Formats: sequence, C-alpha cells, structure tokens
Amino acid sequence: MIRVLFVCLGNICRSPMAEAIFRSKVKKAGLNQQLEVDSAGTGDWHIGEPPHEGTSEILFKQSIPTDGIKARQVKQTDLDTFDYIVAMDAGNLGELHEMAGMKSTGSISRLMDYVTDSEFEDVPDPYFDGNFEEVYEMVEVGCEKLLQHIQNEKSL
Ligand code: 4NP
Repeated sequence: MIRVLFVCLGNICRSPMAEAIFRSKVKKAGLNQQLEVDSAGTGDWHIGEPPHEGTSEILFKQSIPTDGIKARQVKQTDLDTFDYIVAMDAGNLGELHEMAGMKSTGSISRLMDYVTDSEFEDVPDPYFDGNFEEVYEMVEVGCEKLLQHIQNEKSL
C-alpha cells in the first residue's frame, strides 16, 4: 500500500479538500487497492471537526464526497508510515521538517512542487480571506499532477 498524507495548518480547509479530491481521482483511476489517502493539520485547534463549510460547499458542488473526514493533528509516527507527505505551504513544510529532525525528509514535499508551470509555491490559506474557489483550482491541478507523479514513480 502506498500512503499519501496531505498537511495544512488547521486540517479543516486545504488538506481535507486535497484528501477528498485526491481520493476521488484515485477511485476514478481504479487505484483504491494501491493508494491510501489521509490528511492532518500541524495545529490542534480543530481536532475532531468536519471540513470548513467553504471546503464542504465547493466539494459538494463538484460532487466530491467528504464522508468520514475529521480533523486530526499530524503526529511523529506519520513521518514513518506515509510515503508521500504533502504540505500546502512553506509554514507547514517547515513544521514537518522540524518534526523530522535528523530523519530523512525525502517523503516530504509541497503540493505545488508537482505543478511545474505554476507561478505559486504555496496553496494560500482560505480560512481568513474565504477564497475557496482559487484554492480549489490550485488543489485540483496539484492533485492531478501528484497522482501522475506517483503513478510514474511507482509504475502504477
Ligand atoms: P487550513 O486553514 O490550514 O487550510 O485548514 C486554517 C484553518 C484554521 C485556522 C487557520 C487555517 N485557524 O487559525 O484556526
């Protein structure tokens, strides 16, 4: 099983959106048996909460299910159990590198790394500005490219 973990700050806006979109792409590609998807936040404020309504609404409009998605905090063992740990922005990336300490950080990347022609390095946080549309567009492309990357790398 190949395990993919999306990480943002609160685990209610961007990373659950990526989890839902990526899972739906994995299903469409018929790769459910090979790929497992999860998300987590570096912060602990929203543990146990469902996705933010901005995320839920936009996914509902796209007919992408969010069933069972609940916020959790990223933990040390995630660094060992996930093959791809995909941060949304430089802040999350820094936190993950800090958690990794002396361990290898080869599994840690940023979603926009996979969108080679993007002018953005970070998926911006929509929690304060409510810009879920722009975030959706970026996460959608990022997930598409990430899946292609994993398929190539793992010969799926
Ligand atoms: P997310 O957005 O990291 O995309 O889930 C945020 C959610 C909550 C907070 C910040 C960002 N917060 O400060 O509570």
